[in-house]
Amino acid sequence: MPESVETRPSSQVPPHELPASLRDAGLANWIREPLDDAVDRRRRIIMPPAAATMGTPASAYQGALLDEGRHPDTIFMMGENPALPKMPERPTLKDFYLLRFGPIPRTHLLQSARVARENGLDEKVIMACLLHDIAIAGLLSANHGYWGAQLVAPYVEEEIAWAIEKHEALRYFPDESVGYRYPEAYIGYFGADYNPPDYIRREHEAARRHRWYMRSRLITINDIYSFDPNVVVDFDEFEDVVGRNFRQPAEGLGFDGSPVAHMWRTMIWPNNFL
Ligand SMILES: [Fe+2]
Ligand SMILES: [Fe+2]
Repeated sequence: MPESVETRPSSQVPPHELPASLRDAGLANWIREPLDDAVDRRRRIIMPPAAATMGTPASAYQGALLDEGRHPDTIFMMGENPALPKMPERPTLKDFYLLRFGPIPRTHLLQSARVARENGLDEKVIMACLLHDIAIAGLLSANHGYWGAQLVAPYVEEEIAWAIEKHEALRYFPDESVGYRYPEAYIGYFGADYNPPDYIRREHEAARRHRWYMRSRLITINDIYSFDPNVVVDFDEFEDVVGRNFRQPAEGLGFDGSPVAHMWRTMIWPNNFL
């Protein structure tokens, strides 16, 4: 994160104290103080998205946050959140990796792509590995293969988007014939008794019969399940692969009017109230 990005609290005294109920619930995390950089010195509230809070104690505080938003010195977050680096007007794929994705998913994607390259795989597989968990990195974890495939579909060959979608199901099912075992990491994540749901089983069976099966299987083989977050891989290592396999829109991702532009805009301004 660039040093110019302000994430520390300031010494500015807010014009009114937040209700203790919000502070006690830890919801101060969603409220942008200080006021130095807020619009007209107003406090800005980030309303957490339903997908992030459903089923958690935070969901009970939606009303309290809405009430807080009615205060005259308070507005909801729209546009630039000073805690995030500002994106260029015409963002490229690289800008999302460097300015939006956290170090863990970013490193995971770059390391997977590097392993695919070291294994001598073709560019479509390297590109698919570079993108495969992009939804986890910037949007949503649940159903990440499907979200990720949709995000990139207008910009990559159909085969790449297909492989990204199907890796979601394939990673649960070993294929010893190509050296893929059930990931040890998943036993830790989900428990040894985890059984994928029926729809995932059906997706796996259909993908297995598909002519592009190995494209997607290779993502799971080169997926780094236990990786070192300290290993630095430069996005520019893949500049040539991205240049040939990702059709960057001239208007910038999020502004090209494609059916998925809104998904990229959500990653540019993830804290917008609406
Ligand atoms: Fe994945
Ligand atoms: Fe992965």
